[in-house]
Amino acid sequence: MSFRAFVLAAGFLSFLCGIIFDNLSGQTALRILLLLLFSALLLGGVWAIRHTISRQSTSALQNPLTIKAQGIFDDLFDPMLTGLIRLLREKNDISVRLAEVSSRFEGVLEHMVEGVAVTSSNAQILLVNSAFERILEVGSEAAVGNRLGLVIRVAAIHQLVEEVFRTRTKVVREVEYHEGGKKKTLNVVATVTETQGGAGKSYGIFLFYDMTTIRGLERIRKDFVANVSHEIRTPLTSIRGYAEALTDGALSDPELSRKFLGIISGQADRLSRMVNDLLELSRLESGTVALNLCEIDLGFQTERMQEVFSSRLRDREISLVADFPKPFPYVSDESLTDLVLTNLLDNAIKYSPPGREIRISAENKEGKVIISVIDNGAGIPREDLPRIFERFYRVDRSRSSSVSGTGLGLSIVRHVVTLLQGRVDVKSEPGAGTTVCLTLPQKIGRA
Ligand SMILES: Nc1ncnc2c1ncn2[C@@H]1O[C@H](COP(=O)(O)OP(=O)(O)OP(=O)(O)O)[C@@H](O)[C@H]1O
Ligand SMILES: [Mg+2]
Repeated sequence: MSFRAFVLAAGFLSFLCGIIFDNLSGQTALRILLLLLFSALLLGGVWAIRHTISRQSTSALQNPLTIKAQGIFDDLFDPMLTGLIRLLREKNDISVRLAEVSSRFEGVLEHMVEGVAVTSSNAQILLVNSAFERILEVGSEAAVGNRLGLVIRVAAIHQLVEEVFRTRTKVVREVEYHEGGKKKTLNVVATVTETQGGAGKSYGIFLFYDMTTIRGLERIRKDFVANVSHEIRTPLTSIRGYAEALTDGALSDPELSRKFLGIISGQADRLSRMVNDLLELSRLESGTVALNLCEIDLGFQTERMQEVFSSRLRDREISLVADFPKPFPYVSDESLTDLVLTNLLDNAIKYSPPGREIRISAENKEGKVIISVIDNGAGIPREDLPRIFERFYRVDRSRSSSVSGTGLGLSIVRHVVTLLQGRVDVKSEPGAGTTVCLTLPQKIGRA
C-alpha cells in the first residue's frame, strides 16, 4: 500500500468517525475527530519514513546512481537521505580500501626475506611472517600468543626484548647461538612503535636477518687467506734461508751447495704445485670448465697411474691392485677423472706405511659406476672426516708435517666429482685404513 493511499484511508476513517460522533456534543466530537486524524497521520508518517529509508539504502548500496527520495517527503527527507546514503557509501568504500591495504600488507610481509614478529607491549607475539618461521624454526601456531623471549630461548634475545621496551629506542644487535648442534648468527633490529591518538597502544617490531651463511663464507675466506699466506711463507722462508747460507759461504763447499740447492728446488716445486692447485680450483669453481666426454677404460687408466707412481710405489714397496673385471668401460671426461684418481692414489701412498697394498675396485650398480680407492694405512679420525674436503685442511698438522702436501687435493677431488655429476664418500678407521668411494653416472649427461 502506498503512503498516499494510507493517508486517504486515514482521512476517510476520520470522516466516518465524524459521522459516528455527530450525536456527541460538538466540542467533544471535534476533539476526538482531530485526535483520530492526527494519529492516522502520525502512523502513516512513521511507516513512510521507515519504508523509504530501507528501500533507498538498499538500492544505494546496490546502485548508488538510482538514489532518489520519493513522495510527499521529497523536500523534507532528500537532504537527510542523501547524507545517510553518502555515509553508507563511504563506509562501504572504507571497508573495500581496508581489505585492499590489508591484503597488500600481508603480501609484503610474506615475501620479505627478513623474519618479522610484532608483539604487544608485554612482548606477547601478535603476528609473525613465514620468514620468521623459517629462520627461527618455529611454527606460527606455537609463536602467536606466546612471549617472544619464551619462543626464542636465547639469552641475548631475551635481553634485547627487555632493553627495547625499557629504553624505547631502536636496538640493533648480532646474536650468535647454537641450534641442534649448528651455529646460527642472526642480526636483530628491534623497535617500539605507538599507535596514533586513541588508546595510544605500543607495539614491539622485531626484524631477524639470517647471517649464518654470510658469516660462514666470511670465516672460510679469512681461513683461506690465512692458510695461503702460511703455506706460501713456509717454503719462501726456507728458500730465502738456504739462498742466504749459500751466498754467505756455503757455495764454496760443493757438497753443501748441492744439498742446499736441492732443498731450494724442492721448496720451489712445492710453491709451484700449490699455485697450480689453486689455479685448478679457481678454474673448477669458475663454472667455465667444458667437459670432454669419451669412453674410458678404467683398466687402461689404472695401468697409466701405475706408471706415474711407479718410483714411489717401488720405493715404499707398496703394491697397486686393480680389482675389477677388464675391460671396464664408462663414459666420462678422461683428464678430469685422471686428476681425481691421481689425487686419491697420491693420498693412499702418502698415508700408508711401507709394504702395504692399495686396491682400486669398480662395479656397475643401478646405472652408476662405483670406483673405490682402498688403502690400509693411517686412517682418518672420525671428527676430522667432515672437514677433509675443506681447502688447506690437513689432519693433525704435526702428523702431516712429515708428509708433504698443502691440503688442497681432496678439495679438487670434490669439485671435479661434482662437475662430473657424481658424489664422493669417505669411510675410514684410524690405524685400519681409508676407502674413498666415487659414485659417477654410467653415461654422464652434457651440461
Ligand atoms: N688415504 C688417506 N689416509 C689417511 N689420511 C688421509 C687420506 N687421504 C686424505 N687424508 C687426510 O686428509 C687430509 C686432506 O687431504 P688432501 O688430499 O686434501 O691434502 P694433502 O694430501 O695433505 O695435500 P695435497 O693433496 O694438497 O698435496 C690430509 O692431509 C690427510 O690428513
Ligand atoms: Mg692429497
